[in-house]
Amino acid sequence: MTTIQIRGGQRLVGTIQVNGAKNAVLPIMTASLLADKGITVIEGAPYLTDIENLAHVVRSLGVGVEMSPDGKVRVEADSLATCEAPYELVRKMRASFWVAGPLLARTGHFRVPLPGGCNIGERPVDQHIKGFEALGAKVTIEHGYVEGYVNGRLKGARVYLDIVSVGATINTMIAATLAEGQTIIENAAKEPEIVDLANYLNAMGASVRGAGTDVIRIEGVKALHGASHNVIPDRIEAGTFMVAAAITGGDVFVEGAIYNHLSSLGAKLREAGVEVEDDISGIRVRAPQTLKPIDVKTLPYPGFPTDLQAPVLALLARVEGVSIITETLYENRFMHVPELRRMGAEVKIEGRSAIVEGVAKLTGADVTATDLRAGAALVLAGLVAEGETLVSGVEHIDRGYHDLVGKLRSLGAHIFRAGDSVPPLKLVSSQS
Ligand code: UD1
Repeated sequence: MTTIQIRGGQRLVGTIQVNGAKNAVLPIMTASLLADKGITVIEGAPYLTDIENLAHVVRSLGVGVEMSPDGKVRVEADSLATCEAPYELVRKMRASFWVAGPLLARTGHFRVPLPGGCNIGERPVDQHIKGFEALGAKVTIEHGYVEGYVNGRLKGARVYLDIVSVGATINTMIAATLAEGQTIIENAAKEPEIVDLANYLNAMGASVRGAGTDVIRIEGVKALHGASHNVIPDRIEAGTFMVAAAITGGDVFVEGAIYNHLSSLGAKLREAGVEVEDDISGIRVRAPQTLKPIDVKTLPYPGFPTDLQAPVLALLARVEGVSIITETLYENRFMHVPELRRMGAEVKIEGRSAIVEGVAKLTGADVTATDLRAGAALVLAGLVAEGETLVSGVEHIDRGYHDLVGKLRSLGAHIFRAGDSVPPLKLVSSQS
C-alpha cells in the first residue's frame, strides 16, 4: 500500500511551479471528440490518474490518444468506432460523462453510464440532460445508461440551467457548437476552466462568446477541426500550496498562479492575517505564526471554491478561536473531519457547516484520504502536526496532484512517499 509519511514542524520556504489545470484538460479532451479532422494537442497537461482515466474512456470510443511525459496530450478523433462508453471506465471518474455532449453533437447518438454518486455527494446529471433536450435530443435512462438521440443536427436553443453547474455548462456548450443556429446558455458556470474550454473550441473553428459570464452564446457551425491549446494553470493546486504556506507560517512563491482565479482564497487568507502578494508571474504567500479565525462559505466561481474547502479547514483547525465553514455545493464534503479529529482537531458538523474550534497543536496520526481534496487537507495538517502522520488512500491524491510530495519536499517539508526511489524517511520523533 502506498502511503505518504510526514514529520510535521517545518516552515515551507521557496518557489514552486504550478501545473496545468486538470479541470481544464478534462473538458478539452472530451471536446476534442468533435473534430472529424486534424489533431488536437493539449500542452501543459500534468501527469495525473484522472487524465489517464479519461484517456482510456476516449480510446474506448476508437480514438487515438497519446500522452507524453513533457505534458502533451495528442488526440486524433477523425473516426469514432462507437458512441457507447463502458461502465468499468466511466464509474472511475464522473467527468467521463462529458463525452456525451460531443458524441451527441457529432453523431446524433450517445450511450454513457449514469455516473452515480461519489464520496462527496449525490451529483446528479439532470442539468446536462436538460441541456441536451433543449437542443432537440431525446434522452432516456435505462439499465443504468443515459442514452441520447437526435435525428440530424441538434438545434440551437435558449437553455436556462436551474443550478450553476460546471459539468452541465461544459456538456451543453460542447454540444451546441455543432448545432444548427444560435444557443444561449443562461445561468452558466463562470469558472476559468470554462473560459479555457471556450478558447479551445474557438481554436477548433467554433463560435463561442461570453464564457466567463453567466450567459454564453454559441453560433453553431457544420464541422470542427483539431487544434493546439496550452491549458491555464491549476488554480486548485496553486491554492493548495498557498494554504500550505499559510499553515506552516511559511514564505512561498507559487509561480504561474493567476491571482484573478484565486481572489476569493486570497481575500480569505488576508482576513486571517496572511500576506498575499499578487505578482505578474505568480502569487507570494507569507504567513505569521499566529493567524485569526475566519468564516468561509463555498460558492460557485468567483465565490470560494469547494475544492479548497478541505485544505482551508485543515488550516483553521490550528487557528485558535472559532471559524465556521459552510459547504453549499455538496451535501457530504466533510469526510476529512473525522480524520482531522484523529489528529486532535476540534470540529463539529451542524448540517452544512463545520464549526472549527482551533487548537494550538495537532498531533500526527495514521489517517485515510477519502477523496482528492480531503487527502490534500490531511497532508497539510501533517505538515504542522507534532510527530508523524501517515496518510493512506494516496490514490485519491494522485488523481489531482502531480508530485505533491516532491514539491512540498522541495519547499523544506519532511515528507516522503513509501515506494519512492528516494529511501523512505527514517521517521524519528521531533524530540530526538
Ligand atoms: C466540477 C469540478 C469539481 C468541482 C465542481 C464544483 C471537474 C472535473 N470537476 O465538478 O472539482 O468540485 O465542479 O466547482 O472540473 N448538479 C446538479 N445537477 C446537475 C449537475 C450538477 O444538481 O446536472 C449539482 C451538483 O450535485 C453539485 C452542484 O450542482 O451540487 C455543482 O456541480 P457541478 O458544478 O456540476 O460539478 P462538476 O462539474 O461535477
